[in-house]
Amino acid sequence: MENSISYIDKVKSHILVHLKTYQHSETIYNASKYSVEAGGKGLRPLLLFTALEALNTDISKGLSAASAIEMIHTYSLIHDDLPAMDNDDLRRGKPTNHIIFGEGTAILAGDNLLNESFNVIAKDKELSAEIRIKLVETIATASGQAGMISGQMLDIEAEERPTSLDELETIHAYKTGALITAPVTAACIIAEAVPEVTESLQNFSEVIGVLFQIKDDILDIEGNPKITGKNIGSDAKKGKVTYVSELGLEGAKTALQQKETEAYRILDSLDELIETAGLRKIVQMFAERDQ
Ligand code: IPE
Ligand code: IPE
Ligand code: MG
Ligand code: MG
Ligand code: MG
Repeated sequence: MENSISYIDKVKSHILVHLKTYQHSETIYNASKYSVEAGGKGLRPLLLFTALEALNTDISKGLSAASAIEMIHTYSLIHDDLPAMDNDDLRRGKPTNHIIFGEGTAILAGDNLLNESFNVIAKDKELSAEIRIKLVETIATASGQAGMISGQMLDIEAEERPTSLDELETIHAYKTGALITAPVTAACIIAEAVPEVTESLQNFSEVIGVLFQIKDDILDIEGNPKITGKNIGSDAKKGKVTYVSELGLEGAKTALQQKETEAYRILDSLDELIETAGLRKIVQMFAERDQ
């Protein structure tokens, strides 16, 4: 069986084949393709495939769900970078989508990736209709007003008013955590995992979702733009509330370590039920990444 790392490339080609096949505008196709091809790390697909491996399930079954989640993540970044939001001009080491294609096209390319993500799942005849519906429900819940969209709204509103640390954790959990929980829940649906395992894995994914965004806040200060592919100092420039603005760099690093310890503790409790080695590597990768 191929492993989760080698399988990530398949996600990108699966997305591009879908976009190419069902389109009536070369401009929208090219703008969508630009951001998909730009070279994200593919961590959400990696998490989904690793969770499937942990649940002893064939990773090829996760291809459509992983593609859909990566499409939604990519759309969220195109919109996040727009002048009306974070106003960033560098993403994945390249000019942001609106810099190349203009704001109108970037908005539509984002909308396109969102809508087509659900189409990718609907068209996956390898999965039963029941599983496809559960996947759509999970992913729509994570990306819509119960998840990422509300997080992004709260993130904008937090620029204008005092924000407590608890509120900040909530913003991180919604804007970023929801799309990190989605691949884990999707894997549990595909593998038909027992409720006890699903619940623990969801708790685990919520912890690493916030961990991931704390690290993102830290990299906004001390990351190397050549490696992160993003400008540094963007958060402070926009007056964003982040773990670093609230706790300082060292405080943010301590918060990160606490999340890391919590994540490992949940995996310890799962050790007798599933194979946790791959998920442990993901925690380490999320916490230690410089990209
Ligand atoms: C960046 O996510 C946006 C956040 C949610 C912090 P990633 O760091 O996973 O971005 P790519 O996909 O690798 O570009
Ligand atoms: C992005 O958070 C979260 C989403 C796009 C949903 P950030 O605004 O911190 O992400 P970067 O730093 O621009 O990648
Ligand atoms: Mg943002
Ligand atoms: Mg941003
Ligand atoms: Mg950031």
